[in-house]
Amino acid sequence: ESTTVVVIGAGPAGLTVGNLLRRSGVDCVVLERQTRDHVAQRQRAGIVETRAVRMFDAWGLADRVLGGVPSEGILEFRVDGESHLVSDGDGSEGLGARICPQQVLVQKLTDTFLADGGDLRFEAADISLNDLTGERPTVRYRTADGGLRSISCAFVAGCDGDHGISRTAVPDGVLTAHAFDHDIGWLTVLADAPPPTYPLLAISEQGFAAHFPRGPYTSRYYLQCPPDDDPEAWSDERVWDALRTRLGDPVLGSGPITDREIFRLRSLVHDPMQYGRLFLVGDAAHIVSPMGGKGMNLALYDADVFARAVADFVRDGDESALRGYSERCLRRVWNDQEFSHWLTRTVHDAGDDSRCGPFERNLARARLDRLFTSPAAARSFAELMTGMD
Ligand code: APR
Repeated sequence: ESTTVVVIGAGPAGLTVGNLLRRSGVDCVVLERQTRDHVAQRQRAGIVETRAVRMFDAWGLADRVLGGVPSEGILEFRVDGESHLVSDGDGSEGLGARICPQQVLVQKLTDTFLADGGDLRFEAADISLNDLTGERPTVRYRTADGGLRSISCAFVAGCDGDHGISRTAVPDGVLTAHAFDHDIGWLTVLADAPPPTYPLLAISEQGFAAHFPRGPYTSRYYLQCPPDDDPEAWSDERVWDALRTRLGDPVLGSGPITDREIFRLRSLVHDPMQYGRLFLVGDAAHIVSPMGGKGMNLALYDADVFARAVADFVRDGDESALRGYSERCLRRVWNDQEFSHWLTRTVHDAGDDSRCGPFERNLARARLDRLFTSPAAARSFAELMTGMD
């Protein structure tokens, strides 16, 4: 069997690569380890930034991929109970950011890909990548009924996340990993409870908290906690009490908690994002701490750059965009890492100062104050939020 691109992983990155390649008339096969149901239910990111919305629009996919998904251009900061609204209006015309839970995006991308005749194979086990530095790499895998398959291709798109196999196929010493750990934990809770009016970031002495919409009756909450804390130590009652206090909302609507987890805020960049004919796309190449909502959007950006580069090559044999892939993507990755790092430090340090001390707490408060009072600072923040160049 033979194709132009084998895409490993059917998360936001892999499905976007698949859809954009099909729109360009480039053959591809997408291989996913899990079942379709499993992938479609996975709840994670929730915002598609302005740049990414306009990217889908430019590919003629905005209606199919984002149709019916609500727009949002306002973020609320609540500092010791006092509300400040910040807009992502950057002066540009056109479609704006959408509140789109990852599973909704994944379902719509899957439907669109399959409706266009895309080749998407679930439950592909034991994938191995071979001859990545040769002319025709081969991807081998095992089907659900145990059959062995082999596909030869021109390129492999490694879209299988931070724990996938693509990156492990790169020999030691080729990639440099740049890692950063904020030493901050977040308890994340998903609940059947009314969403906030605007995505909400709350800063208080008790620690950071956030409330994001995840559907008409669903909310995602975050509570800063020690990174090694035990989720079992957070009873429903303790969660709602902490949220009411930190969000400064004594009558906050509650509801059944359907998921609860603790994770560390960390960032990771692998450089370069390419090895031979393997291109790393999305989380396989970089993790960005969730504050700022850039993880999924970076995956969508990489997918766009990769698909255009492959299309150039297939159309007129021009390899320059493929050669520039890693450098171009990493430039945006570091820009977004900086934004996320800045915002992470600001919202945590400005509240509970037990980690950073009072000096840094006051610096963080000054940064927030500037954001709320200086039009130039607000504009620069908006530019980073939209992701527009
Ligand atoms: N073989 C095949 N598929 C695999 C393998 C493997 N060995 N390992 C992982 N996968 C699949 C996963 O099951 C998943 O469907 O690859 C996909 C990777 O998806 P994500 O981890 O969501 O990564 P990505 O598509 O890069 O998503 C980017 O969305 O919410 C986020 O945190 C995520 O910010 C990130 C963004």
